[in-house]
Amino acid sequence: MEFSTTGTKTVDEVEVWLSSVIEDSRKSNGIELFGLHHKEKSVFLGYCGLTLFPDLDGKTEIVIGYRLIRKHWGNGYACEAAFAVRDYAFTELKLQRLVALIEPTNIRSICVAKKIGMTYEKEVLLAEYDYPDHLYSMKNAAISA
Ligand SMILES: CC(C)(COP(=O)(O)OP(=O)(O)OC[C@H]1O[C@@H](n2cnc3c(N)ncnc32)[C@H](O)[C@@H]1OP(=O)(O)O)[C@@H](O)C(=O)NCCC(=O)NCCS
Repeated sequence: MEFSTTGTKTVDEVEVWLSSVIEDSRKSNGIELFGLHHKEKSVFLGYCGLTLFPDLDGKTEIVIGYRLIRKHWGNGYACEAAFAVRDYAFTELKLQRLVALIEPTNIRSICVAKKIGMTYEKEVLLAEYDYPDHLYSMKNAAISA
């Protein structure tokens, strides 16, 4: 739960959170979080997906996010998942733009965002923070070209 705004959750809190994620995904038009499973090893790795922010620094944005279980870090899974979610967002959902919100010290997350083609755009101060996150963004080249 490194870089989580809420810290480690209890089992009860996770159940509440998961229920709301599943409920939201039913009415999300495809903007949702996905569980990551290693096919050959049949192991749960974490999640990656999209979240709607109705008012992020004055704009409606779709944010890509990812979180892996610690022991699965460093194997390229986050990058693989983020590429797949980016392609899904641009090809299937035909989104025009995708952003990521990243703490400036979160080097691994910045690497993942840059690898899928995002660049640093600006600082954003979220309600629950007392210091700004960095917003990375990219456009859907197929639409904006
Ligand atoms: C962010 C996170 C999902 C990345 O997972 P991961 O398995 O390490 O990611 P990957 O292995 O796919 O790639 C990470 C990249 O960062 C690079 N990296 C890792 N540690 C690094 C470091 N200390 N310095 C520089 N680069 C680093 C890796 O080399 C890799 O790049 P490469 O493929 O060019 O070698 C994982 O660290 C995580 O779950 N963190 C906690 C939750 C979180 O912070 N989520 C993002 C919130 S914005």
